[in-house]
This record gives sequence, C-alpha cells and structure tokens, in this order.
Amino acid sequence: MSALTTAAPGAPVVDLDLDELRRDPYPAYARLRRTAPLAWVPSVGRHLLTRYDDIVHAEKLAEVFSSREEGSLLLRTVGKNMLREDDPDHRRLRGGAEPPTRPRQVRDLWAGTFESTAHRLLDRIAARGEADLIADFAEPLAAANLACVLGLRNATADDIAGWSRAMMAGNSNYADDPDIWLRAARATRAIEEAVAEIAETVRREPDGSVISSMVHAPEPVALSEIQNNVKVIIGGGVNEPRDVFGVGAWALLRHPGVLNRVIDEPTLWKRVFEETARWVSPIGMYPRQLTRDYEIAGVKLPAGSRVALVIASGNRDESVFERAAEFDIDRPHRPHLAFGGGPHFCMGAWVARHEVSALAWPLVFNRLKALRLTDDPADHLDGWVFRGLTSLHVTWQAA
Ligand code: HEM
Repeated sequence: MSALTTAAPGAPVVDLDLDELRRDPYPAYARLRRTAPLAWVPSVGRHLLTRYDDIVHAEKLAEVFSSREEGSLLLRTVGKNMLREDDPDHRRLRGGAEPPTRPRQVRDLWAGTFESTAHRLLDRIAARGEADLIADFAEPLAAANLACVLGLRNATADDIAGWSRAMMAGNSNYADDPDIWLRAARATRAIEEAVAEIAETVRREPDGSVISSMVHAPEPVALSEIQNNVKVIIGGGVNEPRDVFGVGAWALLRHPGVLNRVIDEPTLWKRVFEETARWVSPIGMYPRQLTRDYEIAGVKLPAGSRVALVIASGNRDESVFERAAEFDIDRPHRPHLAFGGGPHFCMGAWVARHEVSALAWPLVFNRLKALRLTDDPADHLDGWVFRGLTSLHVTWQAA
C-alpha cells in the first residue's frame, strides 16, 4: 500500500508553523488535543494524533499502524532497519540486538565502564569551575556508553557523536540539501567499515555486545542488517540520554528544594528520570502508516494514511496528568509515553535509565559542589521531533 500524502476526507486541516513548533510545541498541542485530536498538518505532511488514549490505542495495533512508512528520510539515511520494519522481520532483528540492553546485562556488563567514563569526563572539567554540561559531559558520555554497548572498540566517542549528528541531520533533511546528504553518507560509510571490522572479530571471540549478539543471533542477521541497525542505534542513542540528562539537571537547578530532597534520598533519582522524560520528551513524535482503513479520534482514515504519534503531546494530556506542564516528581504514577509502546518500545530504555539516573546525575551533583546555572541566554529548549536543551552552562566551586 503506497503512502497517501494528502489529508484523509473529513480530517480537520490545521496549519502549524514549524519554527514555532521548534520553539515551543506545547500550546499548539494543547489546542489540537482540545479541538482536533487527529488533524492533517500540511507543513508536516501527516495527520497528528495528540491525545494520550488514542496514541496508546494506536501503539497496541501495530498491524494497522505500520512502522514501514514509505519514503521516510530515515530509510534514505540508514537503509532498512528494525525501527521501520514490522514483524516478523522486526522481531528477528530486535531479537538479535536486544539481549545486551536488558537490565541485568546493563548492570553486570556495562555499568562499571559507564561509571569510569563519567568520572573521567568529570575529572577533565572539575578544576575549571565552569562548563557546558551538554557539550562537555552529557554528549560525550552518551556517545562513549553507546560505543561500549555496541562493541565498537574501533570508534571514539567523538566519532560516534559526529556520526550521530550527521545522520540526524539527514533524517530531517526536508530541504534536500546535498551537503547534508554528503555528510550523512560519509558517516554511514564509516559506520559500515567499523561494524564490518568488529563483526569479523566477534565472530571468533564473542564479547556480549550488541554487534556480537547480532552476529551470533539464533535467527540469522546479515552483515548489512547489522550495519543498518547500528546506524539507527547511533542515530538515536546519543541525543536522547543527553537531552534527558540536560533537561533534568536544569529542572533540578531551578527547583533547589527538590534537588536537596533527591540528594538526601537517592532512590528518588528514578522518579526524576521518569518525570523528566514525561515533561520534555526527548523524542516528540514518530511516524506510522495505515495498512487498512481505520477510524480513530472520530476520523475515518483510508489505508496508506500517514499518522504521527505525538508522544510529547500525550505526555502533557491533562486528562491523564494533572497540571501536566509542571515538573513534579511527586505526581501519581501513570505510565508516560516517552519510550514509545508496543513492539517498538525503546530498546535502550534500561541503558538510558542507568547511565542518567543511577550514574550521571548523582555523580555530577555529588562531585561539582555548589553547582549553579549561569543563566546563559544560549541555554534554551529547542525542537519538536527531538527536543532538548541547546546547552547548559553552569559554574561550581572548583576544588
Ligand atoms: C532517554 C533516552 C531515550 C528515549 C526517550 C528513547 C525513546 C525511544 C522511542 C520513543 C522509541 C520508539 C520509536 C518508534 O516506535 O518509532 C525508541 C526506539 C528505539 N530506541 Fe530509544 N530512546 C532512548 C534511548 C535509547 C538508547 C540509549 C538506545 C540504544 C542503546 C536506544 C535504542 C532504541 C532502538 C534500537 C529503538 C528501536 C526499537 C524497535 O524498533 O524495536 N534508545 N526509543
């Protein structure tokens, strides 16, 4: 079924300005939830689905809301991969890649290296008394941790972060800028070479990493499939942990009472993580394509319709989360949508939870004494498909 690039008959059409969405998408989402919970937005070329219950409903119906969206920029950048496949191929690819990212494996295999990397990065800045915690800490930490879990011993954190940026630019290259495609192609070629080299080594000596797990998967995974899935993991595995770290640290520095409670009671770091991911979801939306006619939110969508599940909006739905715009670690527990749902539920959730809430935040707040925001005007939230802080300038008492 080919993708329909127009509004479904009867779907409300709502014009949204992409620059405004990047600056602050939440007022537009609140309006859509109230007045047009499924709306065709011409600038996005998709129907936006914005209410919590409807998104959860769609996630549960993967056979109708397919992940195989045709013509997606992600497919052009990285090629076929688990994120844009349906079962049974999705299940086979995910089954090969997932085991090293489960909670026990994260604790037993990776936590030690994650911790020493976080200390090393803090050692580099501790005496300075000032830093941008995004560029100097969160991004290199997320990139180094990803290299470790993937098993890419032949790549540096700088390589991983640079490749991730180049592919992310490709995934959102709606302007079809040839320079962006060139940089993305260079990054994907470099990843293919690095993965081929490691796959050769771990075929002889398995090492528990994601690449090793895919090489030795019970249901065979071809080298090109391993390469494409590593690309998608690098494309998406750096910015989200970086952004949840940055937004959470920023929220706590602006709420010193909450910060003091969490420092006194470290079990609360977990709640800070889940509330941060709900409050400003690092991934704001992702696409689906209908395999057959289906009615949702009062609109009959024909097969082939393109829908965006706007999880950042679902996570601010007042019918589920009271005072949804507030950062509140004490709110009653309701599952948030920041990691998605259904068969594509984020494979890196436990990696991200551990690296940010068990390690990065506690280490930063313990080691950098009297940490303060400098209120640099450059530090602001940006983005709607992906959302996070552009930078996070802080000072502390250098030892
Ligand atoms: C706070 C951090 C993170 C957030 C909020 C996040 C969010 C998400 C979301 C919303 C999806 C579903 C997308 C869709 O259904 O189209 C997803 C999928 C995925 N994530 Fe994450 N992610 C995070 C960190 C990571 C990390 C660190 C890794 C790698 C270790 C990772 C690997 C993946 C993979 C491989 C998928 C595809 C799973 C599949 O298709 O079955 N993520 N993530």
